[in-house]
Amino acid sequence: MTSRFDRDAIRRELARARARTLSLVDDLSDGDQCAQHSPIMSPLVWDLAHVGNYEERWLLRALDGRPPLDETIDWLYDAFEHPRSTRPTLPLLDPVAARSYLATVREETLGLLATVDELDAPELLRGGYVYGMVLQHEHQHDETMLATRQLMGERAPGVPGARPVLGQRARVPSGEVLIDGGPFVMGTTSEPWSYDNERPVHLVEVPPFHLDRTLVTNRDFLAFIDDGGYQHEQLWHPRGWAFRCEQGLEHPLFWQRDGANSWSILRFGRRIDLAEHLDDPVQHVCWFEADAFARWAGKRLPTEAEWEKAATWHPGGTKARYPWGDQDPDPDRANLGCHVDGPCPAGTTASGASAAGVHQLIGDVWEWTSSDFVPYPGYEMFPYPEYSEVFFGGDYKVLRGGSWAADPLAVRGTFRNWDHPIRRQIFAGFRCARDA
Ligand code: AVJ
Ligand code: FE
Repeated sequence: MTSRFDRDAIRRELARARARTLSLVDDLSDGDQCAQHSPIMSPLVWDLAHVGNYEERWLLRALDGRPPLDETIDWLYDAFEHPRSTRPTLPLLDPVAARSYLATVREETLGLLATVDELDAPELLRGGYVYGMVLQHEHQHDETMLATRQLMGERAPGVPGARPVLGQRARVPSGEVLIDGGPFVMGTTSEPWSYDNERPVHLVEVPPFHLDRTLVTNRDFLAFIDDGGYQHEQLWHPRGWAFRCEQGLEHPLFWQRDGANSWSILRFGRRIDLAEHLDDPVQHVCWFEADAFARWAGKRLPTEAEWEKAATWHPGGTKARYPWGDQDPDPDRANLGCHVDGPCPAGTTASGASAAGVHQLIGDVWEWTSSDFVPYPGYEMFPYPEYSEVFFGGDYKVLRGGSWAADPLAVRGTFRNWDHPIRRQIFAGFRCARDA
């Protein structure tokens, strides 16, 4: 958003993120804010107070050495102390206390922001970094909270402020583009609010490859299902096949077969007819499902280097923040920020396509890549190991590009997301690639 430390812009962004967070709990009963809607998710009141606790830790204590507002709070909201499944058993702040904690922290944050450049924390403050870190954290949890709400099933409320995705046809054809071989600059050093895991820039030699112009659609995925994709073990990674069998997977999460040839999707408490959404990008598939589809299609998932080259490397050999250049995202270029409640068909954001003609690299759905989450050469932890470092080398696959539910402030061509290859509740889909 900003390349310098701009107090007014930070104030505006803090307010915007907080309005979004509160909109994701204020329309729910106390019971639904405190309940655990899925064992793989936190109660929403946990996310709520955790967001405030992160702000307190970084924007009050790290910046100004202030003592904790309440000694008992850190432990409750430490993600490493408590796996998500156990969070409802904790003596969490209730909905009223959580809001009051957030408000107290925020009042102090805004007070300190007015004078913060006199503090002795130059690394944290460079380019407003620590504010960017806290803002991105809040938006990341907001996306997680939306995934939790979607897991409320038939009772799930809609996405605040979002229009329903209309059933529309794709406006650009599918197909592939050839991305030339050769080195490209991966990662960033210039992006002021980039995470440690996006740095440093380094040259990566990428052999030529074909990349799909469009995301894999519900129509494509239905063809895989109808061709017995979920029944053919040889299409699946061994661990994926074991997971598919153990869970009885037959289709993406939130799909329901209503008849021989009739399917619906449960989306934020509404049932939508799949037949009207065949050109929408498929969503709520895990890495193993994406991997099996790609094999069935005679293709593969792109590596994250391939993805980033396609998304940021421009003809003539320059790097941009986005496929369309350096301008901030807007709704004509990318489906981000919950303007609608799901991914849209190819061509909806045609002005965001890359020069090579690859659509929807940014927005719509997070894209699974074939890559494991590992540090770049020369990685240096900053400012704490629990954001990235503790996850390196774990059982995680990298996702790129952001989803319709990701805020533009938390998405760029170099941003790396990651999750377990079995996860399906995130707003993830994929596109395929092929060796040239
Ligand atoms: C980067 C989205 C994988 O949600 O687990 C939130 C972000 N880190 N709180 C996650 C994060 C700490 C993280 N992801
Ligand atoms: Fe967090």
